[in-house]
Amino acid sequence: MTHTQISLTRFLIEEQRAGRINPELRLLVEVVARACKRISIAVGKGALGGVLGDAGEAGQASINVQGEAQKKLDVLSNEILLEANAWGGHLAGLASEEMDHSQPIPDVYPRGNYLLLFDPLDGSSNIDVNVSVGTIFSVLRCPEGVTTPDDAHFLQPGSAQVAAGYCVYGPQTTLVLTVGHGTHAFTLDREVGSFILTARGMRIPEETREFAVNLSNQRFWEAPMQQYVGDLLRGKDGPRGKDFNMRWVASMVADVHRILTRGGIFSYPLDSKCAPKGGKLRLLYEANPMAFLVEQAGGAASTGRMRMLDVVPSGLHQRVPVFLGSRAEVAIAEDYHRRHDAARAPA
Ligand code: AHG
Ligand code: MN
Ligand code: MN
Repeated sequence: MTHTQISLTRFLIEEQRAGRINPELRLLVEVVARACKRISIAVGKGALGGVLGDAGEAGQASINVQGEAQKKLDVLSNEILLEANAWGGHLAGLASEEMDHSQPIPDVYPRGNYLLLFDPLDGSSNIDVNVSVGTIFSVLRCPEGVTTPDDAHFLQPGSAQVAAGYCVYGPQTTLVLTVGHGTHAFTLDREVGSFILTARGMRIPEETREFAVNLSNQRFWEAPMQQYVGDLLRGKDGPRGKDFNMRWVASMVADVHRILTRGGIFSYPLDSKCAPKGGKLRLLYEANPMAFLVEQAGGAASTGRMRMLDVVPSGLHQRVPVFLGSRAEVAIAEDYHRRHDAARAPA
């Protein structure tokens, strides 16, 4: 008996027949997946494709709205996603880490009912060293009656997302998607050029012995984070009574992919360096889509003090502290914050 492979296209058609998505959202996901294939090809060529290194002219780095130097692949991936999504009629507007403001779909094309936000290339510091990078995306509904959306229309809590996903460009290229009915992974068959369903209904183990954090920031963390990680490091001899392992890829996509696959907790907490900005990771196109995917896989995502998907955004590029992954472990991290805050609250 031949084993039937389920392509992303077939998966989406079946989701549509089941009434879980409409044709417009199906097209949107297909278009984003196609753009990710192009980015995957560019990433895979590396030095041979002339895509490594910084964007901008020699001696004159190109800086994005975040104040970060752009890599060639940041710019290229952004262009690929913009071009792919402009003409299909499924979107009203787009917003990206690499653009100061959102863009409505140009007047020459029909406008649809959705808004798309993306981090075109996540893990930029890993591009030139041949370590996994990715693309993250989030889909919102364009508010009723709005035909030309501006930044304010994108400021919706993560709980309003209708779809979210990421594509990790690693040893395999894998697209992970939710439309609000579980989290599913599709591996790119490079010879055929199509994404094939390889994990339906991913589940994050509730408990874990593995954490992901950039430990070099330890002395800049808030007290509850210091205590939480301090207790993890004390292992068997500490209050947790078990030894923990640590991993940090420095590409959120790769770290979250590991956690969706085998559990763990990922954190980019508040530290005194990023506190004035509210955190390091961006709410709308990093934290929220990952939070949606993780919750749909039975995990939890929090700022340390509240559920990520309940945060009401105030800016397109707003940053937040992030704790996500195995549900019981995220609850423990939140508990350190709760106890600390309660002890400091006036009686
Ligand atoms: P980006 O490349 O899109 O700016 O995102 C990088 C983020 C995230 O992917 C990762 O978890 C984190 O920055 C790594 O930060 P450090 O270099 O401070 O560890
Ligand atoms: Mn990123
Ligand atoms: Mn990025």
